[in-house]
Amino acid sequence: MRYKMHKERLVIGNDPLGFGVFEKTKLSPNQSFFRNDERCIWLYHANCLELMDLLIEKFPDGKFDMIFADPPYFLSNGGITCHAGRMVKVDKGDWDRSRGPEFNHEFNSEWLRRCQKLLKPNGTIWVSGTHHVIHSVGYAMQQIGYKILNDITWEKPNPPPNLACRYFTHSTETIIWSAKTDKSKHVFNYKLMKSINGGKQMKSVWRILPPKGEEKTFGKHPTQKPIELLIRCIQASTNEGDLILDPFSGSGTTGIAALHTKRRYVGIDISKDFLQVSKKRINEVIDNLSAGSPRRLKAGH
Ligand SMILES: C[S@@+](CC[C@H](N)C(=O)[O-])C[C@H]1O[C@@H](n2cnc3c(N)ncnc32)[C@H](O)[C@@H]1O
Repeated sequence: MRYKMHKERLVIGNDPLGFGVFEKTKLSPNQSFFRNDERCIWLYHANCLELMDLLIEKFPDGKFDMIFADPPYFLSNGGITCHAGRMVKVDKGDWDRSRGPEFNHEFNSEWLRRCQKLLKPNGTIWVSGTHHVIHSVGYAMQQIGYKILNDITWEKPNPPPNLACRYFTHSTETIIWSAKTDKSKHVFNYKLMKSINGGKQMKSVWRILPPKGEEKTFGKHPTQKPIELLIRCIQASTNEGDLILDPFSGSGTTGIAALHTKRRYVGIDISKDFLQVSKKRINEVIDNLSAGSPRRLKAGH
């Protein structure tokens, strides 16, 4: 079993969620990287498989109202794309390299299984991805017993041109929204979604711009999601005060959307560099909120 865990010791502290301090394992540091108990935001430096196992031990009946996961896309394999008018290699980092379809599917199944255990009975999960990963994710969800609720098409209005001129221009990503099981009574804030869609039922195609320059002031993450997209997912499927997990939190976009919408957030990432970017982004939002001048960000803008 490739994902066999090597746990050493677990020490529980006294923070409000009782998450505590986790001892490192051979595969993962499991360290708190940033916390703000007042704003209910906690970041962990960890391999999410390992830390989720520790959380499952502590919360066997589930803990989270919602999970957003933007896993590795497994597309950094030497292809080319166009960035700022220049031809560049598609290389997002080692964490994004494919190890073959079987391994990729096993990895997806492993983290999705853990997410399902950590969801509360009525909780839901959103998983984003391109074709490189999303079909495996959808298949694994069916194997594991999630109930698929929607597949959202995120349409990017201004995609980079296709340099090979042998394919259509890639201009969408898919986000699968699923409930923990077919017995779940999931939250859907129907009226709110309708109202931000000008009084019409919200469709499953969302036209949203990629992250703006101002969202990248503290450093770039190669697959950063727009805050607006995350605010929409959160507002659709949770209520104020709900607890959200992102096991691949990257530059912390989900946490920032949680702050803006008054939800609580736990983020996990394996990369300290990306956690540093998150911390700076999150601190800026907290400073603005504390000064009483939150940047105006709302769903539907
Ligand atoms: C697609 S990116 C997420 C981007 C994020 N949604 C954002 O808006 O910035 C995937 C992230 O997962 C992290 N990652 C990859 N494997 C991981 C693992 N096993 N445990 C935790 N994080 C992991 C990478 O460091 C990367 O930041």
